[in-house]
Amino acid sequence: MRVGILGSGRMGGKLGTIWARAGHEVVFSYARSEQKLKKLGRHGTPHEAAQEADVVLLAVHWSRVDDVLKQAGDLSGKVIVSCSLPMNADDTGLVIAHTSSGAEALAKKVPKARVVSAFNTVPSEVLFGVFEARRKSKKPSLVYCGDDARSKEIAAELIRDVGFDPVDAGPLRIARYTEPFALLIAQLAYEGDGGPELAYRFERFGK
Ligand SMILES: NC(=O)c1ccc[n+]([C@@H]2O[C@H](COP(=O)([O-])OP(=O)(O)OC[C@H]3O[C@@H](n4cnc5c(N)ncnc54)[C@H](OP(=O)(O)O)[C@@H]3O)[C@@H](O)[C@H]2O)c1
Repeated sequence: MRVGILGSGRMGGKLGTIWARAGHEVVFSYARSEQKLKKLGRHGTPHEAAQEADVVLLAVHWSRVDDVLKQAGDLSGKVIVSCSLPMNADDTGLVIAHTSSGAEALAKKVPKARVVSAFNTVPSEVLFGVFEARRKSKKPSLVYCGDDARSKEIAAELIRDVGFDPVDAGPLRIARYTEPFALLIAQLAYEGDGGPELAYRFERFGK
């Protein structure tokens, strides 16, 4: 797949690197340092990254979403996998929650694109570890949600490529639950004793 990265920081830089290693064609974009983009690999403007892509990863701070979308240009028909959480400026809380979600607000901004919410429930620090362990049978889970079946298949493939077991949580409005869940994971990762290399796994009993 051709993957355009919008926001090449902790999440976008790592996920893009992993997908490139997994064999995808990745174009990084949107960082303040050109040098940083160069080090990551093939790079361009957000417009170049998005227009050439089959799927776009949105990985910027909530306060930068409008700017990067404007720079990316027309995203009609594109699959947007978003890991962006609707955090306030100092990252202490969600600015959208309960009656809507960042993912739904994003979908309203780009009504002709197909938004899938994924990767926001794990810290960036765990991504390379999960990728290295991808051949093990016990994989960590990763929840994702969206309204378009084909886009969700694409997102699930990218989730598998990182080494997670994709868990379809349903339509995009379920991001109202996955986004606060992401804050729980962040609490455990950054305030807990075990460090930030944390993933989670759902298990079913009784079958
Ligand atoms: N980090 C995590 O573990 C994690 C986990 C789950 C969800 N998320 C969510 O994922 C999203 C991305 O988080 P992140 O931690 O990857 O953020 P980050 O490391 O700060 O990366 C954001 C990227 O946007 C770029 N950027 C910021 N302002 C810019 C500007 N004015 N012009 C051009 N580029 C600009 C940054 O450039 P520079 O590289 O030059 O700084 C960076 O490449 C956020 O919405 C966050 O809530 C993060």
